[in-house]
Amino acid sequence: MTLRDARVQPDLPHRVRFTRDAFAPGNAVLAELLAGAEPGRALVVVDRGLLEARPDLQANMAAYAAAHCGRFPVIVGFRTLPGGEAVKNDLSLLEELLGVFNHHRLDRHAYVIAIGGGALLDTVGFAAAVCHRGLRLVRMPTTTLSQGDSGVGVKNGVNMFGQKNFIGSFAVPHAVVNDLALLENLGDRDWRCGLSEAVKVALLKDAGFFAEIERDAALLAQRDPAAGDRVWERSAALHLEHIVRPAAQGGDPFELTTSRPLDAGHWAAHQLERLSDFAIRHGEAVALGLALDADYAEATGLLSAVDHSRIVGLLAALGFDLHHCLLADPRLIAGVEAFREHLGGRLTLTLFRGVGRPVEVYTLDTDQMARVARERASVAAR
Ligand SMILES: NC(=O)c1ccc[n+]([C@@H]2O[C@H](COP(=O)([O-])OP(=O)(O)OC[C@H]3O[C@@H](n4cnc5c(N)ncnc54)[C@H](O)[C@@H]3O)[C@@H](O)[C@H]2O)c1
Ligand SMILES: [Zn+2]
Repeated sequence: MTLRDARVQPDLPHRVRFTRDAFAPGNAVLAELLAGAEPGRALVVVDRGLLEARPDLQANMAAYAAAHCGRFPVIVGFRTLPGGEAVKNDLSLLEELLGVFNHHRLDRHAYVIAIGGGALLDTVGFAAAVCHRGLRLVRMPTTTLSQGDSGVGVKNGVNMFGQKNFIGSFAVPHAVVNDLALLENLGDRDWRCGLSEAVKVALLKDAGFFAEIERDAALLAQRDPAAGDRVWERSAALHLEHIVRPAAQGGDPFELTTSRPLDAGHWAAHQLERLSDFAIRHGEAVALGLALDADYAEATGLLSAVDHSRIVGLLAALGFDLHHCLLADPRLIAGVEAFREHLGGRLTLTLFRGVGRPVEVYTLDTDQMARVARERASVAAR
């Protein structure tokens, strides 16, 4: 018998919601997303950084579950994990978490509600994806970066062998609930971090959004919540639109091709995070990476001086420090090959010809890149 080639059709819903005060008893967003014929079971995993700022979170959740009793899952456990890159770097925490899933006998119909920053969501998401080949993950991102970018995606992962996201998977979450009110508790550095990913996605897809960020730059630099909320929602919508596009329009949620526009600026960003032992935050590293790629694009004639100064000027106006001594580190350029290896296939980098005008390049003049990087580093040293 000859077997025909067939197609696997993972026709999965991807539900992302923005709300405020998700655990206020009258807020039905979460309850509706988790409502089933019978109430299920849920384990809650919370970022310790968030819990320090919101010590009442567990009590609020319990009150919420009680208010929606009969349709909201029974909360079987409430655990905490450290926030930040530390959680992705310590594999013993991953094992511990899988042990908790086992202890509670979570099955494929059980929910894992992960509440925290991108690093915690990546870790819990990976554990949920590999446990019984997939528990139902509910992400509640609590940083600007995770609400506008990482939390709405379909990837997870933790670091191994000194490499970011060396182990990880693609897994569509059951739902994503972005509670804008939780962003008030962030420190200023973490609040700013979502802005560089918003600039990135605006540069890629929406010149009008870029102009809005420019218009609001002074407000955003002072952490204006209303201006911020507009940015996180628009950034999430653009990321989401990119991820769920049909294949005919270039959609590639599981990254089967080499094209990775959402990773613009990220080859240097990931290397700077590693070289700084994660003292440079992801969002800060993305700002440095975008500025560096803009320098390179200008130096190689891709980008006009006017557009270069718009891009770098906006990142600076938002309060990012665009100079760092690690840009002069000879190991920086090794990030290009590490990036290619992680994505697989031939090197494909997304640079910009202008605002809203991405372009893919397949080779890089590493001497030129090292030159512009040293130039940026020398300003830091002055
Ligand atoms: N999966 C993806 O597609 C994807 C995409 C982009 C980035 N990422 C990953 O996301 C990570 C960065 O995530 P991040 O920028 O969200 O930061 P983070 O997760 O590192 O959190 C930063 C800090 O904020 C604290 N925190 C979280 N929420 C808080 C709140 N509401 N109030 C007070 N403190 C709070 C945390 O404890 C931590 O100390 C990186 O590991 C990056 O690689 C993943
Ligand atoms: Zn990123």
